Amino acid sequence: MRFLIDSFSPEEIKKVLEYYPAEGVTTNPAIISRERRPLKATLLEIRELIGEKMLHVQTMQKESGAMVDEALKLRDELSVTPDGHDFFIKLPAVPEGLKACAYLSKKGVNVTMTAIFTPMQALLSARCGARFVAPYVNKLDDVGDGEACVEKTARLFEAHKLDTKILSASFRNVSQVTRVALSGSHYCTLPPAFFEKLIYHPMTENALTGFESDWLSAYGNKTPSELMEE
Ligand code: E4P
Repeated sequence: MRFLIDSFSPEEIKKVLEYYPAEGVTTNPAIISRERRPLKATLLEIRELIGEKMLHVQTMQKESGAMVDEALKLRDELSVTPDGHDFFIKLPAVPEGLKACAYLSKKGVNVTMTAIFTPMQALLSARCGARFVAPYVNKLDDVGDGEACVEKTARLFEAHKLDTKILSASFRNVSQVTRVALSGSHYCTLPPAFFEKLIYHPMTENALTGFESDWLSAYGNKTPSELMEE
């Protein structure tokens, strides 16, 4: 499974990119609204930071024609590659979204179908040409089983040889991320602070403390590279 950053904060995105293998950025209206930053300037700043990595931005339009217009406008503004392959318009998994998805996909615009809660929403999206479907794992866990939705979607895509990728979103704990990775999610998108939760383990810290004191008692403050020069 590959990783994306779910954030509208250039500072936090920059920090994650420095340490973690993130392949792009996703945003959504809730994340953007929480930050209260100027939309265009901030999206352009994020684009600058990530270069040609993927950027996913959601439409706020309700009707398919307006979704298409917004997608094309956003792609023009926010893509830095000549073919626009670095930009993904996020469309909701509703009939108007599907209609816009089919049209945009045929035109070569990348679509991520979002707010996916069932395997059938995912299958319809894939058949309309979506590049990604985004199941909301924790929101589903609140009422049922997020991992099951990911696992069934992965089986459907495999059985019917569909290229659409699963981009799992909405997590509250590390176990949910592990479980969707094992269940066939191709990507997940995580808030910046989540990356630290994935790498941290107290026993790793203990192991390092042990190595430190063993080394100190044998070689003092000299490092292996210093000792190699003696
Ligand atoms: C999708 O774009 C988001 O990752 C998702 O809505 C976040 O879900 P949460 O609000 O449960 O964290």
